[in-house]
Amino acid sequence: METLQLHQDRSRAPRPGPMAYRRPAKTAKSMPDLVGAAWADLEELTCDPTTLAANRILTARDMRARAFDHLRTRLVHLHHQHGWKRIAIVSPEGGVGRTTLLINLAFALSRQRELRTIAYDFDLRRPGMARLLGQSSAHDLGASLGSDTPLETHMLRQGMNMAFALNTARADRSAELLHRLKTEALLTRIEEIFEPDLMLFDMPPMLVADDAHGFLRTVDAALIVMQADRTPIHQIDLIERQVASLTNVAGIVLNRCAIAEHSDRRDG
Ligand SMILES: Nc1ncnc2c1ncn2[C@@H]1O[C@H](COP(=O)(O)OP(=O)(O)O)[C@@H](O)[C@H]1O
Ligand SMILES: [Mg+2]
Repeated sequence: METLQLHQDRSRAPRPGPMAYRRPAKTAKSMPDLVGAAWADLEELTCDPTTLAANRILTARDMRARAFDHLRTRLVHLHHQHGWKRIAIVSPEGGVGRTTLLINLAFALSRQRELRTIAYDFDLRRPGMARLLGQSSAHDLGASLGSDTPLETHMLRQGMNMAFALNTARADRSAELLHRLKTEALLTRIEEIFEPDLMLFDMPPMLVADDAHGFLRTVDAALIVMQADRTPIHQIDLIERQVASLTNVAGIVLNRCAIAEHSDRRDG
């Protein structure tokens, strides 16, 4: 399988992001019992290994998962260095492997037991996480965002430190839902209850609609996913400039990059 290559030096010097400095810094996990109980209350995710393998979701034993371990290490480093917690995963267009990458990254983070991570399917136009994870239960994340309903009903727990917030219903008013101030309040509430170290957001493609643009102002950074043999250079520059005008750029990932399998080059 073609794999991915992280252009680390494309990540920019951090700017005072709107969220990183607005939220109070987390002190010690003061009430571990309450937080642990909140996690324990979540429904447990059960996945069929064959479905995961067919959808390119890699287990720790698979050597190819190392690329995602690298990416995890990079994000954890940025988290510790700058306090970045909310990371959007964006791409110029659909079909570049953004959701596949996000799920693999989330599983890599779940193996880091001291960290808590929540991954949200905020590609409300073309939700994909539940399908890739082989989940059949119905979830309408857009309806919850629109009615200020707590989001944890859509969260399924992987182990005790990772959760996926799933969606199976396409939302018509996706941009409006993601741009609502109440969406920010719902996320803050999740942070108070579950104390995640990282929250990852699968976003709609940026060239297709403006859904991601407004939401990017509420995250600490964005990771840009491109397809190595498909995304033209001018599009990479355009998206990078757009993202950088809205939030910090955590890095650019070239997915399906043939040379990354044979080389350790990181020469963005
Ligand atoms: N590294 C990869 N190598 C080969 N195929 C991939 C890779 N990553 C994703 N794919 C495939 O590309 C297709 C689109 O992936 P998906 O994650 O749904 O993209 P997006 O979320 O960007 O629309 C899927 O069939 C997926 O299995
Ligand atoms: Mg997708």
